[in-house]
Amino acid sequence: MSTDVNSEVMARARGLLEDAARVFILTGVGISAESGVPTFRGEDGLWRSYRPEELATPQAFRRDPRLVWEWYGWRREKVSKCQPNPGHRALARIALDRPARIITQNVDGLHEVAAKLEAGGADWESASPLELHGSLFRVRCTECGFHGSDRAPVDATDRESLPSCPECGALLRPDIVWFGEALEPVVLAAAFDEAREADLCLVVGTSAVVQPAASLPRITSEAGGFVIEVNPQPTPLTGLADVALQGLAGVVLPTLMGD
Ligand code: APR
Repeated sequence: MSTDVNSEVMARARGLLEDAARVFILTGVGISAESGVPTFRGEDGLWRSYRPEELATPQAFRRDPRLVWEWYGWRREKVSKCQPNPGHRALARIALDRPARIITQNVDGLHEVAAKLEAGGADWESASPLELHGSLFRVRCTECGFHGSDRAPVDATDRESLPSCPECGALLRPDIVWFGEALEPVVLAAAFDEAREADLCLVVGTSAVVQPAASLPRITSEAGGFVIEVNPQPTPLTGLADVALQGLAGVVLPTLMGD
């Protein structure tokens, strides 16, 4: 399957990938778009039809936990029907075959599924992503600090039917970093370390408008590393990129890997 990326540009990107000693991979929801996961700011993006301040802030959850859980229940159900695409698999292969780390803004869990598929039963841990913004399939307690996995359908009929803590019975919330909330310090510190130690940053499918994630590729660049961007549209990072591969991740990444 051919890409719109001209062969010279692709050859330069392949050369940077081959020569890299350590790769820092940053992804946004664009990597999952071809799997059927809605983006946030694209044409049919979630933030075009929903207001983040009503659904993705701690204030919104305090105001109406039923509405927020209804929305996250809908997203969980939709995403649980999605499969990794060739873009996810190509990144998993990079992370399995060489010193590299996948750091994602995504909450869909598809990088982990791709890592397991690519590892084919062998150890997949080196391709397990660092999730900056949490996961649709994890919950945490609003009272006792309980954290856990949860893939069950959400019953958001009323306040009483909402997910409750197995330890203390209090209301559970999605384990997602909402607008106005800080990222987990340990996770953020690890992401900054990876960005600093890498000599190549591969940034895929993000509009690069949400901080602190959008600053990470700049750290690699300022530390003397190279930046390759994969995105069909220009972003605030395109000017920083040494190579911009303007195409769909599910097509461009396998081509970058020489498939
Ligand atoms: N391949 C590569 N990139 C794509 C594809 C594709 N098939 N389809 C769309 N894109 C690009 C778009 O051009 C856009 O630049 O993916 C980007 C998606 O941008 P957003 O919708 O803004 O999503 P993202 O950057 O992941 O958002 C960051 O914002 O809403 C918060 O916490 C949420 O993690 C999210 C953060």
